[in-house]
Amino acid sequence: MPSRPSLRLASLHQRGLVSSPSSIEATADAVRVDVDTGTRQSTTWIGDGLVDRLGTILDGHRLGARRYVLSSPGIWRLHGARVQAALGTVEPIFLPDGERYKTLRSVGLIYDALIRAGADRGSALVAVGGGVVGDTAGFAAATFLRGIALVHVPTTLLAQVDSSIGGKVGVNHALGKNLIGAFHQPAVVVTDPSVLATLPRREFRSGLYEVVKYGVIASRGLFDRIAAHTTQVFARETAVLSPAIVESCRIKADVVSKDERESGLRRILNFGHTIGHALEAVTRYRRFRHGEAIAYGMLGAADLAVHRGAMSSADRDKLAALVAALGPLPSVTDLPIPGVLEAIRRDKKVVHGRLHFVLATTIGATVTVDDVTEAEIAATLTRMGLHAS
Ligand SMILES: NC(=O)c1ccc[n+]([C@@H]2O[C@H](COP(=O)([O-])OP(=O)(O)OC[C@H]3O[C@@H](n4cnc5c(N)ncnc54)[C@H](O)[C@@H]3O)[C@@H](O)[C@H]2O)c1
Ligand SMILES: [Zn+2]
Repeated sequence: MPSRPSLRLASLHQRGLVSSPSSIEATADAVRVDVDTGTRQSTTWIGDGLVDRLGTILDGHRLGARRYVLSSPGIWRLHGARVQAALGTVEPIFLPDGERYKTLRSVGLIYDALIRAGADRGSALVAVGGGVVGDTAGFAAATFLRGIALVHVPTTLLAQVDSSIGGKVGVNHALGKNLIGAFHQPAVVVTDPSVLATLPRREFRSGLYEVVKYGVIASRGLFDRIAAHTTQVFARETAVLSPAIVESCRIKADVVSKDERESGLRRILNFGHTIGHALEAVTRYRRFRHGEAIAYGMLGAADLAVHRGAMSSADRDKLAALVAALGPLPSVTDLPIPGVLEAIRRDKKVVHGRLHFVLATTIGATVTVDDVTEAEIAATLTRMGLHAS
């Protein structure tokens, strides 16, 4: 049994004058990316050092006479001082670290803390952390008092390029991942690549595979730049990393603006996720970091496309070379093909009995098909080296 999450609370009392939104401008050191679904807006600011300007940015968006911060103790130890300095004295609500705390129970403890502190509809919940903190805070913000403002300060690469953008929030159920959720666009996302300096290398690589995904689905230029500069990327050199984060965010924001509820276009973001999610499920989310499973999923989707004649083998080889250059992946050779197929059948991407499968046609473009057969997937898994039974 996991130990009881300790939730300490504190409210942040805003000080000083509230400046007008126009006081924040896109500058050389802050790029602005907007999600605009027609009915909902969300702004992402990206730039080195933006965490130190968090208070000013939130003031500019008129956010939160009361602000409540959610983080994990480990993240707070590394970056809490900067957040404190930017927001004023703050004692966060702490969620213990790890995917196993992305639960309704944690959400309940957040409600407890918010109620005790007297949070009201004008309050804002500020999530400082990776996707686990962001998704959990997001679900609490979506539901508390039928919705309060949400601010993301993503601290993993995966959260910066993926989970903080798009408004999907939610928690896991004992019977499955992300089964409970909502759409709740963050009011503001403050993305500061400098916080990635402390991120363990494996977590960093996991996020990089999602960046590669954006390249494959929408930008050959992004893909080529990562491939040409892997050393600088791994050194987390701002000159290479920040533009890659910005472009990834732009691609996701653009897709979400056109199709927030995933009725069509948004599905392309699932490239690599059909096989990837199944690999995560059959290994009970213990073997792979999410991006690592997606790396295999992208290789599988590319292999399948090549065998359908939808993608050139040269493009498939380029993808395989980049995935290999980004580092070792956990092995898949012991995993049973029938188990992976079973997990694919249970996937949320099956709509009315048909599996929507995103295939790359080249690096930079995709097509979504619904006629991929199990035999094709099995053949791909065989070529990937998985076990026949
Ligand atoms: N909402 C969405 O659209 C969406 C999209 C993709 C993934 N997700 C969700 O995101 C979650 C995964 O997110 P994640 O990969 O960020 O994992 P995570 O939140 O578990 O963070 C990974 C680890 O890195 C640590 N960490 C975070 N920031 C750090 C930093 N700056 N320095 C050092 N350590 C740091 C965390 O404490 C944790 O141990 C999953 O639950 C997944 O379902 C959601
Ligand atoms: Zn993903």
